[in-house]
Amino acid sequence: MINVTKTYLPDKDKYQKYVDEIFKSGWITNKGPMVQKLERRLAQYLGVKNIVLVANGTVALEIAYRTLDIKGFAITTPFSFVATTSSLVTNNILPIFADINKNTLNINPKNIKKLITPNTSAIVPVHVFGNSCEVEEIEKISKKHNLKVIYDAAHAFDVKYKGKSILNYGDISTLSFHATKLFHTIEGGALIINDNSLVEKARYLINFGIENAESIPHLGSNAKMNEFEAIMGLCVLDEIEQIKNKREEVYNLYQSELEGIVKFQKQNKNSSKNYSYFPIILESEKQLKTIEKVLNNQDIFPRRYFYTSLDTLNYIEPKQVCKISRNIANKILCLPLYPNLERKSQEKIINIIKEIIV
Ligand SMILES: Cc1ncc(COP(=O)(O)O)c(C=O)c1O
Repeated sequence: MINVTKTYLPDKDKYQKYVDEIFKSGWITNKGPMVQKLERRLAQYLGVKNIVLVANGTVALEIAYRTLDIKGFAITTPFSFVATTSSLVTNNILPIFADINKNTLNINPKNIKKLITPNTSAIVPVHVFGNSCEVEEIEKISKKHNLKVIYDAAHAFDVKYKGKSILNYGDISTLSFHATKLFHTIEGGALIINDNSLVEKARYLINFGIENAESIPHLGSNAKMNEFEAIMGLCVLDEIEQIKNKREEVYNLYQSELEGIVKFQKQNKNSSKNYSYFPIILESEKQLKTIEKVLNNQDIFPRRYFYTSLDTLNYIEPKQVCKISRNIANKILCLPLYPNLERKSQEKIINIIKEIIV
């Protein structure tokens, strides 16, 4: 079976050695030495000042909103994984959807401007499939209207904008280190915090809001990463260059073979690629379903990222309609992409798509 992605498992002996260390120390959670080591290594690798590791990418978003005291309305994108929106709703923040740019698939800053009201306190854009948002335009809007910016950077591990980490834009960026991601810690995530003075607050918030034995100043949660997750991250990080190179090869073959046959996401010219996803935009949902069915019959399972468009979620009131996002969501398909995808299998996928379309 070929799925859209496959979890990368690092060298087992190396993982085992770390497990032995954990058993020796007996420290398995609560900001243990492995979590601290991974924080230091990731901050250096990614080129960021402050990183706080957490249990997953969804709680990373929630802790970000609470660290910044976001209330009222937040303008966000309807074209993302559901956690971008559901994390707002569970924190009593109303998502206001600004439609996307049909080429880059990212939130369109022109639409953000139109939706700002006195109730708006934040903008929550997503670097969709690792393609950098129009960060400079978003920064101008946020400064003018005094809004906080939280980037959902779940797909943007190691993406550079004009040669520097994209994670340094906005007030906070969040990452997901889920097993399906380019870099993973089984389950996990992180907050990248640009204002040094907010780091301590975020650390209290991931540990029930506790400051010390006598003081609980914040409404916190339990969002800590554990030591077994951290050592998976340490092992995967050792192999990250090789993972990226192999992904790049798969990505480039899709790109050269499918150019002119399907539409691709338009890259922001200032953004580097991390080869996380290979989305193709088809002519219609009918064409997508035909391709999906033929591939499924061959035991190949691409994924409809992101379907449905989040403005169709039944728990969001008032109802909102983002036509571009709905249109793209109906006809976009992410093809299998992972380091050891066999070339023979990839050629089979490419040939099936070509046969159906051409
Ligand atoms: C854009 C986006 N945001 C948030 C998340 C949530 O991350 P996690 O699965 O680590 O909770 C994901 C997960 O895939 C995602 O794709």
